[in-house]
Amino acid sequence: MARRYGRATSRFALYPSTFAVWLCFCLLFASAAEAGLYTSSDQILLLTPENVESVLVNSTAAIVVEFYASWCGHCIAFSPVYRSLAEDIKEWKPAVDLAAIDCAAEENRKVCTSYGIRGYPSIKFFHAYSKADSTGQTFRDFPRDVRGLRHRIIDKLETHEEPWPPACPPLEPASQAEIDSFFETNNVQHLALVFEEAKSYIGRELTLDLLQFDNIAVRRVLNTEESLVTKLGVTEFPSCYLYYPRGNFTRLKVNVEARAFYSYALQRLPGVVRSGKPAPVTIDVLTNNTGDPWRPFNRSRVYMADLESTLHYSLRVEVAAHTVIKGKALVSLKKYIAVLVKYFPGRPMVMNLLKSAKSWLESQVGDEISYEAFKEILDNSAQSPDTALPEGVRWVGCQGSQPHLRRYPCGVWTLFHVLTVQAKNVGGSDPQEVLSAMRNYVHSFFGCRECAEHFENMASESVAEVDTLQSAVMWLWSRHNRVNNRLAGALSEDPNFPKIQWPSPEMCPTCHMVKANGDHKWNLEKVLSFLPFYFSSDRILTDYLEDESQILTRQREKHASRQLALETEKRLERKAREALDLMMHPVTSQPTVQEEEEEQEEGEEPQDEAVADEEEEGGEGAAAAADEMGGKTSEPNPWAKSEMDVGQSRRQAHRKPSIVGMRMRDVQEDIVDLDSFVNQHYKAKALRLSASSRVKQRTLQRKEEQEPRPVFGLGMELDAGLGMVGLQPMETDFELNVGQQRKQLQKRELTGRYFGEELNHRGRWMSALSIGFSKVDISLCVILYFLSSMCLLAMYIFFKNRLRLRRVKMSLP
Ligand SMILES: Cc1cc2nc3c(=O)[nH]c(=O)nc-3n(C[C@H](O)[C@H](O)[C@H](O)COP(=O)(O)OP(=O)(O)OC[C@H]3O[C@@H](n4cnc5c(N)ncnc54)[C@H](O)[C@@H]3O)c2cc1C
Ligand SMILES: *[C@@H]1O[C@H](CO)[C@@H](O)[C@H](O)[C@H]1NC(C)=O
Ligand SMILES: *[C@@H]1O[C@H](CO)[C@@H](O)[C@H](O)[C@H]1NC(C)=O
Ligand SMILES: *[C@@H]1O[C@H](CO)[C@@H](O)[C@H](O)[C@H]1NC(C)=O
Repeated sequence: MARRYGRATSRFALYPSTFAVWLCFCLLFASAAEAGLYTSSDQILLLTPENVESVLVNSTAAIVVEFYASWCGHCIAFSPVYRSLAEDIKEWKPAVDLAAIDCAAEENRKVCTSYGIRGYPSIKFFHAYSKADSTGQTFRDFPRDVRGLRHRIIDKLETHEEPWPPACPPLEPASQAEIDSFFETNNVQHLALVFEEAKSYIGRELTLDLLQFDNIAVRRVLNTEESLVTKLGVTEFPSCYLYYPRGNFTRLKVNVEARAFYSYALQRLPGVVRSGKPAPVTIDVLTNNTGDPWRPFNRSRVYMADLESTLHYSLRVEVAAHTVIKGKALVSLKKYIAVLVKYFPGRPMVMNLLKSAKSWLESQVGDEISYEAFKEILDNSAQSPDTALPEGVRWVGCQGSQPHLRRYPCGVWTLFHVLTVQAKNVGGSDPQEVLSAMRNYVHSFFGCRECAEHFENMASESVAEVDTLQSAVMWLWSRHNRVNNRLAGALSEDPNFPKIQWPSPEMCPTCHMVKANGDHKWNLEKVLSFLPFYFSSDRILTDYLEDESQILTRQREKHASRQLALETEKRLERKAREALDLMMHPVTSQPTVQEEEEEQEEGEEPQDEAVADEEEEGGEGAAAAADEMGGKTSEPNPWAKSEMDVGQSRRQAHRKPSIVGMRMRDVQEDIVDLDSFVNQHYKAKALRLSASSRVKQRTLQRKEEQEPRPVFGLGMELDAGLGMVGLQPMETDFELNVGQQRKQLQKRELTGRYFGEELNHRGRWMSALSIGFSKVDISLCVILYFLSSMCLLAMYIFFKNRLRLRRVKMSLP
């Protein structure tokens, strides 16, 4: 996470509440950061004259500072090492943190001078609770590798006298006596003992690696501690044992006796959770948390349902945030769609839709398009056969244990990986093609702006090195792991799906190995064969996908009902015009003739009838499908009933198109456009929640409103139910009563020239005046009123004329 200000300890406590301030701060100073060798995406505190004191003085953690000059070659060469060190000892932060300052920057010169810096790079160690006049201890001839630096840092940490950094556990070797009485004084579930030689650092490293985890303690035991060694029968050094009360113990099973493997295994022991994080929850709690029935899935597989959900969300929600798409965004969209057409391993129906979107985009000559027009293509308004992008989201492998966790961003990563792998497998021409399309997409559309910025930082730094299709796959994998490292323990981490360096040793044992010095190392060859296998198109599971025929039927139905709504609207408009005409030319008008003419004008009428009929047959299936959307079949849905009698109400409405009343409203409701679909789901959820715990829900809501969402603070609000951005806030929706929502939906559909404008303005008092009547009812009343007065007028004129005639006749001789 971006950090620039605040000291190690306070950062944890202040995190949620000051997040927004934080972001502003980061953005404000972003330009300064980019000039140096490190950016806010590296897990290094960037020092400035403003924050240097608050970071270094009286910090509860020890701080290691690199003083560098951005122009110095040695510093540039050293920067990747320092960055890797930051990743490597990320878990140690509460005890020891890394910082850096660019002494080449004019504004920092004074700070560097005051710390007595003469050569670059210099590294200084500041003890916890350093005084204001402390200039730190210099690392002389420091090693230029991560392992050496790490050991230096441990050595320095051990030189702490009182006060010892409060978050740092004891690092000295444990004795038999201490272990015997351990559980009397410590309330933890697991005690891990690392048996090693005196010169080994593994025990201390592991102690620090687990300092942010609850329910576990780690102690090192030297091979010279004979009583313990014989008691546990230890023969191998290093090795790790789990020790329990009453002297029970087991050896920790790992592929390789090395720090990374121990660390991974210990963090995953039952009951071990990151401090301050809720414990992982079980499936039935998951269902309660998310309001969505939990869909069991295999964690080591990729699901098409996630990919389609991601496409839906990206094209219908994220891109929709731009009412007009132009310039760079338009280029990004074109590239994104083009790459999808080329490499997305989708169902034929989806591929057809992507193809038509691509050719439509290519046919646009102007330098901007409206989202409305693009949406027509996405919704297949032209009704091309076997063409659709399923609406709604249905997460499977990307389900989170809370509504705001995982989902869409998880889907985006998965889609990225699938596309790079697919490009490699089918043999694309340009190694950069997929990466640059995705980079542009993220830059232009990805709702989490902070994520986009971090991603852009990473991409601009190294994506140019990608020169083969394989290296594109590997680049994305390693950058994703870097993001995972940065986000491990962040608020966006799902306790049920901890961020790990992926793939785990269980998933791909051969991907992991150790260097000669015992540090973890990826077996890149194995990773390179694992990734194409894992993300390959023929391994993608199709569980939980809705049937193509159902999707197509629903699409057709939606199209037809929209047509019907348009038709009704036209008809009402015509009636209104008629009434106006009558008023203008009361005597000359001849209603019957005009009606006939108008009927003839409508050439499309019979065609529409056919569509609607066809739909009546499929009506019930479609209604069920609509109900099932988003996988909601098993949930009690207050709207289900009205959805079930779609067919019926439509039939009625179609036979008597001029009768507008309650029935008509049903029809309006059935139009499953995205907005109303989302609205309905929200409503359903809100009602359900309110039934069970109205008060509780509200207070929770309030809380969420006050605290900015930590991860997606800038613009990206992952929603409660669907992982949606930019929807109406739940609270407002919650307040709307059923009638109002109906009106809202109706308003959306009936925006004819005649009704739309005026009613939008007057909607409020109109609805107050006409409880139980719709605007259509009122309009009809007005029309009838006019007709009857015209009739009276006509009669009056008629009789008057007759009288006059008679008088004329009588006056004749
Ligand atoms: C471009 C981008 C930038 C982001 N930047 C930020 C950010 O700056 N801050 C922030 O808080 N969140 C950011 N996010 C969101 C964050 O990365 C996660 O996507 C989100 O927290 C959900 O995490 P997850 O547990 O579902 O796993 P994800 O990281 O989303 O991964 C999804 C799935 O991909 C697989 N996977 C994991 N690692 C790898 C790998 N290295 N290679 C291949 N497959 C892997 C796993 O099966 C995993 O379940 C970003 C997302 C994206 C797409
Ligand atoms: C340093 O911090 C400690 C605890 O955080 C506090 O008690 C002490 O007063 C601080 N000292 C100074 C000089 O700020
Ligand atoms: C989940 O909710 C249902 C009812 O809403 C309740 O009966 C059940 O006990 C809950 N389960 C858990 C684990 O909270
Ligand atoms: C999940 O998938 C992996 C790989 O295909 C398989 O080995 C494993 O048995 C599956 N697990 C379950 C629970 O189905």
